[in-house]
Amino acid sequence: MKAIVVRRGSETPAVIEKPRPDPGPGEALVRTLRVGVDGTDREVIAGSHGEFPEGEDHLVLGHEAVGVVEDPNGTDLERGDVVAPTVRREPSGGGNGYFERGEPDMAPPEDALERGIAGAHGFMAEYFTSPAEYLVAMPREFAAVGFLVEPISVSEKALELAAASRSSFQWEPETALVLGNGSLGLLTLAMLDEYDRTYCLGRRDRPDPTIDLIEELGATYVDSRETPVDEIAAVHEPADLVYEATGYARHAFDAVEALAPNGVLALLGVPESWQFEVDGGDLHRDLVLHNKAVVGSVNSGVGHFEAAVDALCDIPGWFLDAFVTGVFAPENCEEAFVDDETTIKTAVQFDTL
Ligand code: NAP
Ligand code: BGC
Ligand code: ZN
Repeated sequence: MKAIVVRRGSETPAVIEKPRPDPGPGEALVRTLRVGVDGTDREVIAGSHGEFPEGEDHLVLGHEAVGVVEDPNGTDLERGDVVAPTVRREPSGGGNGYFERGEPDMAPPEDALERGIAGAHGFMAEYFTSPAEYLVAMPREFAAVGFLVEPISVSEKALELAAASRSSFQWEPETALVLGNGSLGLLTLAMLDEYDRTYCLGRRDRPDPTIDLIEELGATYVDSRETPVDEIAAVHEPADLVYEATGYARHAFDAVEALAPNGVLALLGVPESWQFEVDGGDLHRDLVLHNKAVVGSVNSGVGHFEAAVDALCDIPGWFLDAFVTGVFAPENCEEAFVDDETTIKTAVQFDTL
């Protein structure tokens, strides 16, 4: 079967032939339909994030997949079920409490493998196998966009953690600010339809398709070159929720100033090392005296995937049509990893239902 990989020492994806996997006990065989691409995949290809599987010279890419069960192999699944696989898997040896409790997303990264990212092959191949408990079913009519369940689940988890940090009092958020007009930021903006007012930060000139989408969602576009994050509260208004999806490390600090009293900042970006100055005293005082919270959030579990299936069903079709800007055959996979001003979200298509 065809698989899209990155080889050690290379920063370009390649198509190779690999044997079709056989499902082991408790695993199902899935025929891959589509696999999405995000900023993490580009970081993995560039070598700034993730790891190759131990002892192997390549990593099969892809962690945002949708497929159809080809062989349920005695599990509770049925042939023809449309499913999305979760990303984390237990390292060999077992005995990892996070996995035993069904909380793999809360494991420290050194105690977890991530398919397509860290130490385990991903889903960008014609077939993959997975333990059935990590395959989350969705309605068949969502098969074409089912690769969005994984990134939506990442936001479901982050929004859950953010709300949990505000659960001790009557938190009634009205305003949300999303930092980042990449695929994660825009998808999250589309999920925040219960907020009265939403803002989304980018650094692009008009005309730009992401700015169009931001405005079509009813949100206000904020250009960080004109209005830096620590000035947004004064220029626009403070936000009850700030969701960071830029990977721009200053935002972890500057966004605290963008929060309203009792607000919460969720950090999702995965920046590289960068040293800069901050006024730690002001930051500390602001957090304490305004009861602000900062939560980091990574990955997602089965419950978040289930919530994501419902959330995907609620996202308007016009948004999804404009959001997915390219679907490519495996032979043209290099185009799926290009990130230019016309690209929002891309996927590689292996098959159709
Ligand atoms: P992406 O496509 O690279 O999007 C990042 C966006 O942020 C880009 O559109 C970029 O604008 C914008 N941006 C960066 N710095 C900015 C600044 N200073 N001012 C304004 N806009 C800025 O990546 P993604 O796939 O959406 O993911 C976003 C981040 O989340 C990445 O760091 C990724 O690694 C991380 N991530 C984390 C998780 C998790 O579980 N925690 C899951 C998925 C992704 P331009 O395009 O104009 O440069
Ligand atoms: C993936 C997560 C993963 C994270 C860190 C994200 O792009 O969607 O599942 O945990 O990267 O590797
Ligand atoms: Zn991702």
